[in-house]
Formats: sequence, C-alpha cells, structure tokens
Amino acid sequence: MADKRVLLIVGGGVAAYKALELVRLLRRAGVRVTPALTAAGARFVTPLALAALAEEEARTDLFAPADEARMGHIALTRAADVVVVAPATADLMAKAAAGLADDLATACLLATDKPVLMAPAMNVRMWGHAATGRNRTRLAADGVAFIGPDEGEMACGEFGAGRMAEPEAICAAALSMLAGAPGAAAPLAGRGVLVTAGPTFEPIDPVRGLTNRSSGRQGYALAGALARLGAQVTLVSGPTALASPPGVRRVEVETACEMLEACRAVLPVDAAVCLAAVSDWRAESPAGAKLKKRPGRPPALKLVQNPDILAALATTGPRRPRLVVGFAAETEDLEANARAKLEAKGCDLIVGNDVSRPGVLGGTENEVVLVGRNGALERWPRASKEEVAERLAQWIAGALA
Ligand code: CTP
Repeated sequence: MADKRVLLIVGGGVAAYKALELVRLLRRAGVRVTPALTAAGARFVTPLALAALAEEEARTDLFAPADEARMGHIALTRAADVVVVAPATADLMAKAAAGLADDLATACLLATDKPVLMAPAMNVRMWGHAATGRNRTRLAADGVAFIGPDEGEMACGEFGAGRMAEPEAICAAALSMLAGAPGAAAPLAGRGVLVTAGPTFEPIDPVRGLTNRSSGRQGYALAGALARLGAQVTLVSGPTALASPPGVRRVEVETACEMLEACRAVLPVDAAVCLAAVSDWRAESPAGAKLKKRPGRPPALKLVQNPDILAALATTGPRRPRLVVGFAAETEDLEANARAKLEAKGCDLIVGNDVSRPGVLGGTENEVVLVGRNGALERWPRASKEEVAERLAQWIAGALA
C-alpha cells in the first residue's frame, strides 16, 4: 500500500472525531492520506490535528491562492487512488448527488474519476428522510460505494440508524478498494436477499390471537446490514414496532400462511435468511365474530400445524435460493440441536443462538455459532445484535462471492 493515496474528505458532523482514528489506521496500513475538510468539518476537528496524524497539510479552502497554486483541487483528486468521505453528512450527500461544487470537498467529488467511498453519519430521522434516501440511491447509481451507517445510540441522544461506521470498518473497505476491488464496499450489489423477521400473529377471532415475544430486532438489523452491502433486500415481517431499515423493501404480513405466500412471491433470490419466529400452530377455524365468554364453558381451541417457511424455501426446486440460512434458538446442546435442525429443514447454514445466556432473549445482544453440514464452522463472541448482523452480512457476502 506504500504507493497508495486516499483523499479523505471530512464533513461537518460529530462523527468527524472518528476521522482522526481513520487517518491513523490508514497510515498504519502504509497508505498516504490527504485530508480535506469542509468548513463545517473544520468546526468539529481542526486541520492541525488531521495534518499532524496524516503528516500532510489538511486542505480546507477551494479559493486559497497559495494552495491552488501548489496543488489545485483537480490535481488533488488525480493524485488520490480512492476518495473517502467520512463523515458524509446529509448536506454533503445532497450536494454531491446534485453535482454542486461550491467548496473544496464538493469540487473534488465532482472532479474525481477515482472510486468514492462514503461513510454516512447523521441523525436517524435525517437518514430516514426520503430526500436522503433519494440522494443515496442517486449516488449509488453514480458508482459511489457506501459503508454504514450503523444503528445505535447517537450523539444527539436518539437511537437508530445514522451512526457512522467504525473507523476499522471504513479503513478495511478503503483498503479493499485500494487493492483494486472497486465494489468491495458493496459486495452484494446486484444480489437479491429475502429476510423473514418478527413474530407471526394467528387469529383466534377478530380481537384475539396466538403470537410470541419476538422483537424482530436481529432480523431488521440483518436486513439493514445486507442493504448496506449493496443487496436488494426484501424483509417479510410479522407485526413489530420497528422502523424499516433504510434501503430495505418491507412486506408486512400477519400469519404464517401469509408469510409463506409473501416469501414465494419474492423468489427468485440469491439468498434467504429466516429469522421470523413463526407460530408453530394456528387456530383451525378462526371465529368470524368475537367469541363471547360463557361462564364455566371456555371455548375449545383446535390448533393445526403451520407451514415451515424455512423448510419450504429450502426445497423449492429450481427456484431454491443458492444460500438458505435458518436460525435456531436453543437452551442446551446448541451445536447438536442446530445440526439436527439443519438436516431436518434442508438449509445450508443454521445460526445457533444460545438463549440460555442472560440478556440474549429479548435483549440487545447475541451469542451465536454457525453450523454447517459438517458441524460448527465458527463460534462468535457475544456482541450486539447489530454487530452480529454486520458480521453475518459479511459472511453471506463471502458465501455468495
Ligand atoms: N421457521 C420457519 N417457519 C416455521 C418455523 C420455523 O421459517 N414454521 C424457521 C425460523 O425462522 C428459524 C428456524 O426455522 O430460522 C427455527 O426453527 P424451529 O423449528 O422453529 O425452531 P424451534 O421453534 O426452536 O424448534 P424446536 O422447538 O423444535 O427446537
């Protein structure tokens, strides 16, 4: 990497402080870094700090005669092998999507003919706004690769998608791009992935039903992580209180039968990942009108088996996704039970989930083991559901590569 150079554009957001760490990581990998700040970026980190870490002058001004005389903004972009924008604010993304060029950062983005990697960082509602969605889609269509944003707690005190990806992840993506894989930050571009998530709701009568406590959190996090890697994600979801991850198409269903039908309608896809906690049974004949209570005579509930969506997807013949992944929540013999489930359902991978560990069931963390046909493939340390999602999305990208 000794002869490689990154032009690092730092936008104006709190996450700009992470740009300092990014410079350090890139430098440690032997990459030369030319920092450039927007005016807003320079209010969050100083050009001096960036220059000290990069061991190169940090540029801020498109109209500084001395800078332009030494190395103009066009030359700046020519000298770089990859342009990284971190943080890419909503404003910077909007300007770049529109092709504006009224400051050094935007002029470089318009003038460059090099691969561009953006690490968005903004408030969750700004990220979820239709305008930002449009800008992201347009930039992606223009060939810009994206990494993140992650989901989590934000500087503004809110929680959700919009946190800048960690410097390690941005550095890794930049290094793969420098290594000559321009699509490395979007390894799932052009791939279709189906994700099922959440509980199902099986009506007993118009006001009652059978359901479970699944939050849908792990499935939604995975759908978001897959979309950030460039996949076209369809999330078939039972009722949850969660917002759709950016860039994900959500199909809402209630019952297992509706979920199966919705999944079949999404085929063909490259991969299907079933995280839904599907009710094993449904009422044989839900009442059309509310069941009235009759003292001493509770109604008998006759249940029938629901279809197994994972097994159905794994046995759809020529339309079978190339990779079918299931989840298994176990309290004992995690590996053996996961393997048995893999065989029974005919899928390629089971992500076994040890729900006996405190804080996993209904919580924000997960501890998983990946089980393939020949036994345990990988055991991952406990991590947040978002981190597990990121890692699993990367794993899926590797398996489909
Ligand atoms: N699954 C499905 N459709 C069903 C039931 C389960 O798609 N009707 C999927 C889940 O999304 C998950 C995996 O199958 O990927 C879980 O398997 P399941 O048999 O439901 O696990 P458990 O309920 O834990 O089974 P058991 O009680 O036998 O351990």
